[in-house]
Amino acid sequence: MARTASPFEPFITAVESAEALDGVGKPLAKKVRSAIKQPAKDALSGTWLGHALHPLLTDVVVGTFLSATLLDVVGGDEDGRAGARLISIGIAAYGPTALTGINDWADTEPVDDGIRRAGLVHAATNTTALALYALSLKARRSGNRGRARALSVAGATAIGAAGFLGGHLSFAKGVGPDQTIFDPGPDEWTAAGDVPEGTPTRVVVDDTPVLLVRAQGSLYALHDRCSHRGCSLSDGEIDGLEVVCACHGSRFDLRDGSLKQGPATAPQPAFEIREREGKIEIRRTD
Ligand code: FES
Repeated sequence: MARTASPFEPFITAVESAEALDGVGKPLAKKVRSAIKQPAKDALSGTWLGHALHPLLTDVVVGTFLSATLLDVVGGDEDGRAGARLISIGIAAYGPTALTGINDWADTEPVDDGIRRAGLVHAATNTTALALYALSLKARRSGNRGRARALSVAGATAIGAAGFLGGHLSFAKGVGPDQTIFDPGPDEWTAAGDVPEGTPTRVVVDDTPVLLVRAQGSLYALHDRCSHRGCSLSDGEIDGLEVVCACHGSRFDLRDGSLKQGPATAPQPAFEIREREGKIEIRRTD
């Protein structure tokens, strides 16, 4: 069945095909990737939380800014102090929120021009919203309620557009979700090819990419698609009993897939593995 086109499709298409943005986006993303090192990388990515940090923080910024605008529109804040407090909280939360977002964007943009461009417009639109709300706060404090109200409505429009693009990046472009959740691997013992000692090898079992490794005399099998942004772990390095992803350096324990270092926020699914009559077989552990 044909997909129903979104009424915003022309807007998304215009953003994603805006090649002019690459002159800024490409070098900026490169600089961000080289500037953010461990342990700041894991802190901003949300590795410590087991979940991407950016969506949690955006709730604070969007929630406070929009609440202030709602008070402006529907009333209930006659002296303007509640709205001013809400905007102040949103402005204070903006810096950490933007940092987590730019960190996530820089890790993702090389795989897709559309992601790079939409992420850049998302950030610029959010910055516009920040400026509008800051001006609204200033007007509020100087007693100009009409100007404060108009600026906060304009800010809400900008943050709505930015939120739409953020949702597009997450839900249409797949930025952020655990990249292993849609192909869990076989639940019965299934033949999985062979693997030489010391060479991480990618095989496909029941449509699931699997990393096979012989290390320190034992066999290990993990989901091969890195939970962070989907790179093949077979392109990475084996360091003792850990595999290090070649893309952004996430480390997973070969024995159980547990996450040893981010920026990934989710562990890597591990499979049971056995060798029978010279053939390797794997199955899911749950
Ligand atoms: S894809 Fe980013 S660490 Fe693996």
